[in-house]
Amino acid sequence: MGVQATIEETSSAVPVISDVTFAELLSDPYPTFKRARELAAVVRIAAANIIIATRYEDIMAMERDAETFSSVNPQSLVNRVMGHTMMRKDGEAHARERKAVEPALRPGAVKSCWAPKLDAIFDDVMAGFETDGEADLFTALAAPMAGRALADVLGFLDVDWQTMALWSQSLIDGAGNYSGDPEISRKAAEAARGVEDAIDRALPYHSENPNMSVLSSMIHADDPHTLDQIYANIKVAVGGGLNEPRDSILTLVLGLLENPDQLERVKADPNLWPVAFEESVRWISPIGMYPRRVTRDVVLSGVQLRAGDQIGLCVGAANRDESRFEDPDRFNVFREKKSHLAFGAGPHFCAGTWVARHMVGRLVVPRLFERLKNLRLRDRTDVRIQGWVFRGPTTLPVVWDF
Ligand code: HEM
Repeated sequence: MGVQATIEETSSAVPVISDVTFAELLSDPYPTFKRARELAAVVRIAAANIIIATRYEDIMAMERDAETFSSVNPQSLVNRVMGHTMMRKDGEAHARERKAVEPALRPGAVKSCWAPKLDAIFDDVMAGFETDGEADLFTALAAPMAGRALADVLGFLDVDWQTMALWSQSLIDGAGNYSGDPEISRKAAEAARGVEDAIDRALPYHSENPNMSVLSSMIHADDPHTLDQIYANIKVAVGGGLNEPRDSILTLVLGLLENPDQLERVKADPNLWPVAFEESVRWISPIGMYPRRVTRDVVLSGVQLRAGDQIGLCVGAANRDESRFEDPDRFNVFREKKSHLAFGAGPHFCAGTWVARHMVGRLVVPRLFERLKNLRLRDRTDVRIQGWVFRGPTTLPVVWDF
């Protein structure tokens, strides 16, 4: 088994990085990730009060052994904010819920149903700023595109992208509210209620009109979701299905604009667009880390872990592991093709992968470069990239000729 392959004779306690501030992590976590990878397989980051797994092979081994590295966590803030979601279940309990959701998100559903709907949303969003000659692509394109797409895919009937964005951020903030800030808890609870109300309004339509949406899929499955399961799993998708496509749109645009030689080659060979997308989420992973709970004492590549430890699987660090990716800090569409961990691995491998791949890598970014002539950064110093658990450009001002 994978984890056994990394077990060694000797073990040591989890080493600590204590001279990095939380602000430094948010601003650019990659130098800390590099130090952590060099230090050990598992490292405590004092500023965030968390232990992280740092290397590609170890994270793969952990994801292959869900009994030792479980997604179930009785203390989970995600469960407190969103309900008992499939993301925090293992084995059969997880598989049953996942199966009910999948028909809506498979490649076939993307091709036959979502592709034309996403095309229409893209055209509409572009019409809002295409003739302006300049824009911040965060607000003009990526946020409305990702929010409107997710509302449709989930099966909401009457929720605008601004509300989707507010709910998504409030739920994420609530799930990370370790300090118990009451204002964050209040906003998360308000968002949770908003999602439930929107589901209640949409369900009668979906029960009478079976369709490809996630909500319809949940209620028409052979083993249908209960209402509580619907609430919890839709909340997890609202929290986890909006900012990642948004951020990866911007990251891919940025990677290509900063590397015009690569942009020209990709434009000349459209088959390279999906490759460029995968490289963008490897380079700056929208989800940098997600948690697992250790269920028994185990030694992982020389580091002693104890039953009950919570570990962040730091895929942001693993995706720049130099033992797997040459010159890993560089955005390079033409690097040797190797799988990455931006969508996770194992049973919880991102359910929305195929929607995201199509939306970002086949539709939004290729068409953006087609439609906006001579698209370029307004000024590199205006670009902001922020975050470490969730990371992406928070502003991307560009100009173009028209
Ligand atoms: C670039 C875009 C995306 C990235 C990088 C991404 C990343 C991830 C990652 C790393 C996980 C694993 C979390 C864990 O194991 O704890 C995950 C799970 C999940 N994602 Fe995504 N995601 C993206 C887009 C989406 C979209 C568009 C949707 C919904 C339409 C979605 C829905 C989900 C769901 C439901 C899960 C839980 C799966 C399970 O527990 O079986 N994601 N995602």
